[in-house]
Amino acid sequence: MEVHQRPARLLQLAAVALAALAALLHIAAAEKYQAPYFIHQCQRSDPELNKCLQFAANTLVRHFRSGIPELEVTEVEPIQIEEIHLALGSGPDGYRAIFREVEAFGVSNMTVSGVRSNLDSMEFQFSFYIPHIRARAQYRSSGVLIMVQASGGGDYWGEYEGVRAKVYFKARKEEANDLTYLQVDDIKMDFSVKDIKMGIKSQQDNAIIEAALNLFINTNGQELLKEMKPSIKKHLLVTMRTFINNLFGRVPYEYWILEDDK
Ligand SMILES: *[C@@H]1O[C@H](CO)[C@@H](O)[C@H](O)[C@H]1NC(C)=O
Repeated sequence: MEVHQRPARLLQLAAVALAALAALLHIAAAEKYQAPYFIHQCQRSDPELNKCLQFAANTLVRHFRSGIPELEVTEVEPIQIEEIHLALGSGPDGYRAIFREVEAFGVSNMTVSGVRSNLDSMEFQFSFYIPHIRARAQYRSSGVLIMVQASGGGDYWGEYEGVRAKVYFKARKEEANDLTYLQVDDIKMDFSVKDIKMGIKSQQDNAIIEAALNLFINTNGQELLKEMKPSIKKHLLVTMRTFINNLFGRVPYEYWILEDDK
C-alpha cells in the first residue's frame, strides 16, 4: 500500500505546488510592470499620449526636486558646469573669457511645457520652462572690451528670467533580461532667456573700469549669451545625455510605456 500511497501524495503535492506557482506567476505577470512611485505610466494607444508624457515628465521632475534615492539622485541643485568659454572679436586684442566652477541654481524649478513624441522612431522633444536661474562663477579674461583693457579675473554673477529650453533626442532600444532599455543615440538642445542681468566683480580695484564693463555686459546680455551659447550647449548636452542614459539604464521602457494588450 505504502508503495502506491507515496506517488499519490507526491502527485498531490506537485499539484498544489503547481497551483501555487501558477498563482505566483499570475501575480508576477500583473505586477511585472508595476511602476515605481516616481513614474507615471502612459498607454501607447492613448490618443493624448503627448499630454500623458508631459504629465509623466512633470511627475518625475517633482520627485527629482526632493531626490530619488532609487536612482542615486540626492542633490539636484545646483547644476555645475566646469568651464564656459566666451570669445568676442579676433586678433591679439580679441576679448576672451573663461568661466570656471559655474553653479546654476533654480533649474529644478522647471516645468515641462510640452512634449512631442514618435514611439516608432523613438524620437522625443521636451519643452521646458524655468522661471528663474541664478548663476555664479569665477572668471578670467584677456583682451580688450569696449576699448577697455579687460584682462583680469574675479567673480561673475548672472540672473536669468524666463528661461525656455527644448531638448530633442532619439533613442535606440537594447534588450536585456526580457526587458527593453533605451539609450540616447542623438541629442540636441536649444534655449532662450527672456531677461538677463549679469555682472562681474573683478579682483583688481579699478571701480571705473569695472562699472564700464558691467554697464557693457548688462546692455549686451543677449549678445554675450549668444556668444557663450555653443560652449554652454556643449556642456549641457554631455550632462543631459549622461542623465537620460542613467535614467533609462535603470528604468526599463516597459515601465514608462504600456504597450497595448499587455
Ligand atoms: C524655486 O521656486 C521657489 C518659488 O518661487 C523659490 O522659493 C525657490 O527659491 C526656487 N528654488 C531655487 C533653487 O531657485
